[in-house]
Amino acid sequence: MKNIFTNKVVWITGASSGIGEALAYAFSAAGARVILSSRRVDELERVRKDCAHPEQVRVLPLDLLEIPSFAAKTAEAISIFGQIDLLIHNGGIAQRSLVKDTSMEVHRRVMEVDYFSYVALTQAILPHFIERKAGHFAVVSSVMGKIGTPMRSAYAAAKHALHGFFDCLRAEVSSQNIRVTMLTPGYIRTNIAHYALTADGSPTARSSTEIEGGLPADKAAGQILRALGRGDFEVFIGRVGLEKLGLLLNRFAPGILIRIAPKQVPT
Ligand SMILES: NC(=O)c1ccc[n+]([C@@H]2O[C@H](COP(=O)([O-])OP(=O)(O)OC[C@H]3O[C@@H](n4cnc5c(N)ncnc54)[C@H](OP(=O)(O)O)[C@@H]3O)[C@@H](O)[C@H]2O)c1
Repeated sequence: MKNIFTNKVVWITGASSGIGEALAYAFSAAGARVILSSRRVDELERVRKDCAHPEQVRVLPLDLLEIPSFAAKTAEAISIFGQIDLLIHNGGIAQRSLVKDTSMEVHRRVMEVDYFSYVALTQAILPHFIERKAGHFAVVSSVMGKIGTPMRSAYAAAKHALHGFFDCLRAEVSSQNIRVTMLTPGYIRTNIAHYALTADGSPTARSSTEIEGGLPADKAAGQILRALGRGDFEVFIGRVGLEKLGLLLNRFAPGILIRIAPKQVPT
């Protein structure tokens, strides 16, 4: 059955796992041509083979910390199918540490991966979208891109920065038929907590009960495809529960949210 993604070219970062992997399967099943990027080529190959139409899926290794490579990587991505219709900025890392303990190296690393790489990849592909007078940026932010809770300072700062940058970009390019959709997931069941950086930069190496109880990644991918199909500007992805309530309170009654939000208890 034909749908709006049939034959569209979708470039997904962070496609080797979690939400990006689930998006790869969902877009391939919807008939899109898909380019999968991240660092682990073996995992990307596994995802490619598991797609509904692997012959329409390509692997393009990309390290989000290697910004100088982005011009060449973008040219390569465009040359694979001759165009890019939709870039899904999704690759990223999380962080779990108190402000008082967190090294500057961790703050900088999270900003590099979760914010500056998105800026640089956007600038690399923007001329292509402007020339074609068409293009769509989907940006995987987080509920932490709208509110803040203990132990998430670097991550929340990077995700908040994405909203500032991409809201400005939308205002600059929407008249050129270039769209921006901000996705703000709540808890989604993926490996994100496992790789989250602690205060000294080492990974937590374990999941969390919140993530394990989160929405399965394939359900999140389904919500994301529907939001992109509608052309939403900004949308919550996840279970309707406390996180969605937090977003609503933040918008309409921020004072109440600050009073009732989780607090770190001194130990
Ligand atoms: N899970 C949640 O509850 C949740 C909630 C809100 C927002 N998010 C956001 O969703 C996005 C995807 O995360 P996920 O939950 O699916 O976690 P995940 O399973 O850990 O996936 C993270 C992806 O990012 C890639 N990545 C990490 N560092 C990279 C780097 N330096 N260069 C290139 N790729 C890199 C990883 O691939 P390689 O290791 O192969 O490079 C992997 O494919 C992130 O932006 C995250 O902040 C997740």
